[in-house]
Amino acid sequence: MIDIGALDDFESGIPRQLHVGGRTLVAIRIDETVYVLDDRCSHEEFSLSEGEVDVETAEIECARHGAMFRLSDGAAMTLPATRPVAHYDVQNNNGRLEVSLP
Ligand code: FES
Repeated sequence: MIDIGALDDFESGIPRQLHVGGRTLVAIRIDETVYVLDDRCSHEEFSLSEGEVDVETAEIECARHGAMFRLSDGAAMTLPATRPVAHYDVQNNNGRLEVSLP
């Protein structure tokens, strides 16, 4: 588990790029939950942290061609992406957020 900060370090609905364990990830907070995905669209590897978050559906839109990804598991919800992006579990450990990397 790798510490990525406290919940209040993340602004709800605003994607933030993280460099953790040699990977480039994107963290997105919605209310009390923080989701972490690879910061790389599965369509053409564009940075998802430049996209917009839909806090109602808990999805992020790739800023390049508009594919939507579900934050809870990285699933591709709309074309042109057809493959998921990697998703990592986040645990809240006494107020510190920890991400689990394989
Ligand atoms: S690079 Fe993300 S939808 Fe094309």
